[in-house]
Amino acid sequence: MTFDKHILVTGGAGFIGSHVVRLLVQKYPNYRIVNLDKLTYAGNLENLTDIQEAPNYCFVHADICDQKAIERVFSDYQITDVIHLAAESHVDRSIHGPMEFVLSNVVGTVKLLEVARTSWSNKSNHVFHHISTDEVYGSLGESGFFNESSPYDPRSPYSASKASSDHFVRAYYHTFGLPIKISNCSNNYGSHQFPEKLIPLMIHNIIENKPLPVYGKGDNIRDWLWVEDHAKAIDTIFHNGEIGHSYNIGGLNEWTNLELVNFLCKCMDEKLGREIGTSANLITHIEDRAGHDKRYAIDASKLCSALGWQPTVSFEQGLDLTIDWYLSNKEWVKKVTSGAYQRYYQKMYSSK
Ligand code: NAD
Ligand code: TYD
Repeated sequence: MTFDKHILVTGGAGFIGSHVVRLLVQKYPNYRIVNLDKLTYAGNLENLTDIQEAPNYCFVHADICDQKAIERVFSDYQITDVIHLAAESHVDRSIHGPMEFVLSNVVGTVKLLEVARTSWSNKSNHVFHHISTDEVYGSLGESGFFNESSPYDPRSPYSASKASSDHFVRAYYHTFGLPIKISNCSNNYGSHQFPEKLIPLMIHNIIENKPLPVYGKGDNIRDWLWVEDHAKAIDTIFHNGEIGHSYNIGGLNEWTNLELVNFLCKCMDEKLGREIGTSANLITHIEDRAGHDKRYAIDASKLCSALGWQPTVSFEQGLDLTIDWYLSNKEWVKKVTSGAYQRYYQKMYSSK
C-alpha cells in the first residue's frame, strides 16, 4: 500500500495522543500513522482498540530518549512528518520527581529533533509539529489572556521542561531550518484521561465515595477544552499552520477549581440518582500545591481567525460525555488505578 504521508505520532497511547491518532487514522486513510510510545503508567494501548487493526495504523514500543530506536523508525517507516506529544504530563509528579521530566520532555524532544534534522534532506516536504501547553507562559492575575507573544515564565518543573522543549524546537527552526510548528493548549478533559488529573480524579472519587481533595481554597482558575476539539486544532495546524509559527488553543471556558468540582458533584448526583448535595459533602480542602499557578486563560484568536478553528463542544455537553464514559468504562479505570496508582495516591494525598 502506498501512502501520501508517513506520520510519526509520539505519545499516541496517552490521553490526548490517542484522540489525535484516532482522528488521523479515521480521517486520512491515505496517511500511515505510526504511533510510538514508551507505555509509561500513562500510556495504554487499550485506548486504541477500536482502530488497532486499521491498515494505515501501526504501533512501535520505544522511548524517545533512545536515539538509535528513533533512527530505525524514521528509516523503516520512511517518516515524513512528526506530531510530538510524548511527555511526562502531570505537574504534581514533576514536583515530586523533576528528573523524569527533564529526560522525556527535554532530552527526548532534542533527540527527536536531531533525528528529524538528519533524516530529512529536503526540509520543505516535512512538518515537525510540537504539542505544548499554556503553562509555559506562567500564571495570570485576575484579568488578561496568554497570546502567542506572551513572555515565557514557567514556574513548575513540568512547565519548565515544556518551555525548554519549545525553545529547542524553535532553535532547530532558526538554526537548521527544520520546518516546525508549535501549539500551546489549555487544560484538556474528556475520555481516557488518567485519573490523576483534576476531572477524572474527582469523577473516580465521587463514584467510590472517597474524599474530593481540593488544593487550598480552590480559587485557582483553569480554562478547559474538550480533548477532541484539541485534536481537531492539531489537525488544522498540522495541515494549514505556517512553518515557524506558534498557535495558542483554548476554549474561553474559565472555572475556579471549586466551582468546577461543585458542578461535577451536582451532575454526578443526578447521574447516580443520589440526593443533590451528597457528593459535594465529600469535598475536602487540603494543603495547596507548591508554587500553584493562579490562573491560565488562552487567547486563541490567531488560530480562530487565521485557520478557522472553533471549539465545537460546550463544557456542559463535554462533561456529560466524560462522566458517561467513566461510568461505562469502570474496567479501564480499575486497571489503570491498580498497583502503582494506589502507592502514588497514598504518597500524594495521605500526607496533606
Ligand atoms: P499523558 O500523560 O496522558 O500521555 C503521555 C504519553 O506519552 C503516554 O502514552 C506515555 O506513555 C508517553 N511517553 C511519556 N514519556 C515517553 C517517552 N520518553 N518516550 C515515548 N513515549 C513517552 O499526557 P497528555 O495529557 O495526553 O499530554 C500529551 C501532550 O500534550 C504532552 O506533551 C503535554 O505536555 C501536552 N498537553 C497536555 C495538556 C493536558 O491538559 N493534558 C494540555 C496542553 C498540552
Ligand atoms: P491538573 O488537572 O493537575 O492540571 P494542571 O495542574 O496542569 O492545570 O489540575 C487542575 C487544577 O486542579 C489545578 O489548579 C490543581 C487542582 N487540583 C486539585 O485541587 N486537586 C487535585 O487532586 C488535583 C489533581 C488538581
